[in-house]
Amino acid sequence: MAKTAIIGGTGVTNMPGLTLNYREMVKTIYGAPSSPLIHGSINGCEVIFLARHGRRHTIPPHLINYRANVKALQEVGVTHVIALAAVGGIAENCDEQSLVIPDQIIDYTYDRSHTFHGAKHDKFEHIDFTEPYSSPIRQKLIDSAKSLKLPVVTEGVYGAIQGPRLETAAEIKRMENDGCTVVGMTGMPEASLARELGLEYACCAMVVNRAAGKVPSGINFQQIEKNLKGGVDQVQKLITEVLGRGF
Ligand code: HPA
Repeated sequence: MAKTAIIGGTGVTNMPGLTLNYREMVKTIYGAPSSPLIHGSINGCEVIFLARHGRRHTIPPHLINYRANVKALQEVGVTHVIALAAVGGIAENCDEQSLVIPDQIIDYTYDRSHTFHGAKHDKFEHIDFTEPYSSPIRQKLIDSAKSLKLPVVTEGVYGAIQGPRLETAAEIKRMENDGCTVVGMTGMPEASLARELGLEYACCAMVVNRAAGKVPSGINFQQIEKNLKGGVDQVQKLITEVLGRGF
């Protein structure tokens, strides 16, 4: 039976609408995940919630123990993961407040433990990552968002950058030339680690700002905060609908 987890990103350190059942602190051979796993339900549907940046949003993107997070979810029997992420919009259709369900990734991160294959893993295998996201989860996110009339962008290329600083205008131009439509700091190696463990994984990205150089007025952190709040409301509705439909 499917068991669904939500990984909450910036602005989503707890999931609104989630009724707490119990907390579980899991310890993996890669260390502890960013937060206890919150076992609970949304609208009667069981779900597990993990705060990617920690309960008090203290872990920056480059210091997240992605391996421990993904491994902890697998160890408690999770089969499906919906990863929430705040992103900057590069493409014109990825405007502030839209929800983007990316279908591709370009990885610009470095210096992160990006694979389970190493000394602690007994068998080495390549993974097929041609399609980095789970198409059944993506479809469910898209159908649900459309039925709720949320401003959804049904495809996109997530450019994963190292952070924690934002980009220069030239870096965004380069990413745009590469084909990236949104930019975020946490999409990798989370997605490929989930694939290594055979988890169905997709991302729901909330656009909280136009990327560097995309608006003459520049980055406005107060506006980002406002967009995050609006995005969280939308995401709560979306997740409730998705869970109600089931996997
Ligand atoms: N760049 C990288 N990550 C982000 C951004 C951005 O503009 N906005 C939210 N996360």
